[in-house]
Amino acid sequence: MKSKLKFEEHLLSKERKSLLEKIAKEQEEIGYYKLPDQDTSAIVEYAQSLDKSIETVAVIGIGGSSLGAKAVYEFLKPVKKLQRRLYFFESTDPINIESQLEKIDMEKCHVLVISKSGTTVETMAIFKYIYSLDSSSERYTFISEDGSKLDKFAKSVGINRFHLQESVGGRFSVLSVVGLLPLALSGVDIVALLRGAAKIKESFFNDGYIKELLVNKASFYAKNHAIYNINCLFAYSETMRYFIQWYVQLWGESLGKKQRNSAFNVGLTPIGLIGPKDQHSFLQLIMEGTRDKSITFIEIADFQNELEIPDISLEYLEEMDLLNGVKFSELISMQSQSVLEALLEEGDIPIDEIIIDRVDEASMGELIYYYELLTSLVGELIDVNTYDQPGVEAGKIILKEKLQQRKKSD
Ligand code: PA5
Repeated sequence: MKSKLKFEEHLLSKERKSLLEKIAKEQEEIGYYKLPDQDTSAIVEYAQSLDKSIETVAVIGIGGSSLGAKAVYEFLKPVKKLQRRLYFFESTDPINIESQLEKIDMEKCHVLVISKSGTTVETMAIFKYIYSLDSSSERYTFISEDGSKLDKFAKSVGINRFHLQESVGGRFSVLSVVGLLPLALSGVDIVALLRGAAKIKESFFNDGYIKELLVNKASFYAKNHAIYNINCLFAYSETMRYFIQWYVQLWGESLGKKQRNSAFNVGLTPIGLIGPKDQHSFLQLIMEGTRDKSITFIEIADFQNELEIPDISLEYLEEMDLLNGVKFSELISMQSQSVLEALLEEGDIPIDEIIIDRVDEASMGELIYYYELLTSLVGELIDVNTYDQPGVEAGKIILKEKLQQRKKSD
């Protein structure tokens, strides 16, 4: 991972010291920090032991229990010959459930049910439906917190279980068993994924270049959060369509909070954009709209793809001959650089850049850990509890009350 454009130092030395002390303390208490160093042998062995006749894996989970694995899987799927296809059941939309099930041969499918709490309505509703179609225990594997109701149920009917590592929150769980097991089942190299994450961790905690980069970036966001309260991630590759959804959850659910030491509500609003498509839509708002957005470009250094625009000249379209012989990978990177330069010329739009090496597991591991660390740093600086989600919980409680009322009136 590289970065040509970065933010300048924004913290006083005592603020910086206090931030780094707090993050060091968090490292002891918050589980995600340790995930790059975990032993994955049990997960790898389990994935290898799954019957070779299983062609698809249905992953039932929502939010932090699905978005991470989906981001990695969809990133790699176009370039890697994966062993099994993953289908993500994350919606109670009946059309979506039925249309996905139609594509699956249940006899050749394994079902992974993922819920940290074990009582999430969406996940349980979909699980119950699929379980009513096939209740053989060997069809399922569950991932939940040790001792959750779901875990107890699995134990009682002899379904294989994995337990979520301690103190790992949903949206920070992609590098835990929550993300690693579905990815290993599909044939993703989870060791390489963690290696990428470990590289960023090492650089951050051992005074490498990532430390400066992230501390400066986090402090810029935090110090200017009242002005630039919208953070756009502009990823120049279709492979990152689901990565930006993961980012939106991580950023939004972690940073939109009441401050710990004041009565203020704060937050930074994440927007996920895909280039070059969004150059033809959202870009106008960035370029000429209210100056409340920062932009981070994500580019791929090497697409490892030689696809080229053919050398053909078309009558009346001779002016387009300048495209002849240009590789698509070259074109997309010229496009991101052109937009970046145009935005820089405006002079009052904060911009930075992340360049990942290629579409592979290690690059994705780097990106995931980079964003997790950045979220923790910003959360600390804007004085919120990055790891809870009372706003999401409130909706869950009301939904359960509504379902109870409905049952009573039946
Ligand atoms: O980040 C979070 O905590 C949430 O997005 C959860 O992951 C989501 O609500 C699903 O919860 P659970 O894994 O308990 O089913």
